[in-house]
Amino acid sequence: MRVLIRDSAADVAGCGADLIEARLAARPAAVLGLATGATPLALYRELAARARAGRVSFSDVTTFNLDEYLGLDGAHPQSYRAYMDREFFAHVDIDIARTHVPAGNAGNARRAAVEYDRRIADAGGIDLQLLGIGRNGHIGFNEPYSSLSSRTRVKTLSANTIADNARFFADGEYQPHLAITVGIGTILDAREVLLLATGEAKAAAVRDMIEGPVAARCPASALQLHAHVTVVIDDAAASALDDPEFFRHIEREDRALGD
Ligand code: GLP
Repeated sequence: MRVLIRDSAADVAGCGADLIEARLAARPAAVLGLATGATPLALYRELAARARAGRVSFSDVTTFNLDEYLGLDGAHPQSYRAYMDREFFAHVDIDIARTHVPAGNAGNARRAAVEYDRRIADAGGIDLQLLGIGRNGHIGFNEPYSSLSSRTRVKTLSANTIADNARFFADGEYQPHLAITVGIGTILDAREVLLLATGEAKAAAVRDMIEGPVAARCPASALQLHAHVTVVIDDAAASALDDPEFFRHIEREDRALGD
């Protein structure tokens, strides 16, 4: 796991954008796995600015989002489809037909989940999977005690996650308790993973992901089993690590090696 610690959330977004820009320069028709939540918003804005400036293009890119609330169709403003259209796809040169979000309104959600994994495979698999992390260590909507080899499926959200995401829903508005999420096994199949985390609220989850045992208690700890993961965090999210200086040292050494 390569851990890059930055001074601010803005620097985390810039660092993530640098990595994505470099990967798309090498492979313009890449398949990207995308994430929602508050954390990647600054990254999406930065990528959109770079697209406008002609530094990066999404015209040949295919995307698969991690998850979607069950019971919300794509027209619902709190659906992850609406989020992606509003926050990212509307601002870059992507072909919307090549963007995929699990169908929250599928008649048969279990079948739709199996089908989603098949579509990822048909597209050649995910080249780069972008992730955030929940306060309880979840990735996608793989809550604690998810199987570390799980595939895309329907999951029940934890009370913590429902409470954390309540801020996006109006008072009295229906908030789903179920979601379709790609599995941890599906995430581990990606050829590369980029996880961003900012703020002190994520510090314990970041510590468990990086330093903890690989354990279903912290689903993100499964990323320790992946050979090509970059974690970009700000100082606040790094604040519970035993030895953040170790990672700064490694980064300086890597830079000296021209990495
Ligand atoms: C949500 C999403 C995750 C996201 C996480 C953290 O529940 N399903 O993909 O990483 O919460 O969100 P935020 O970045 O808003 O803290």
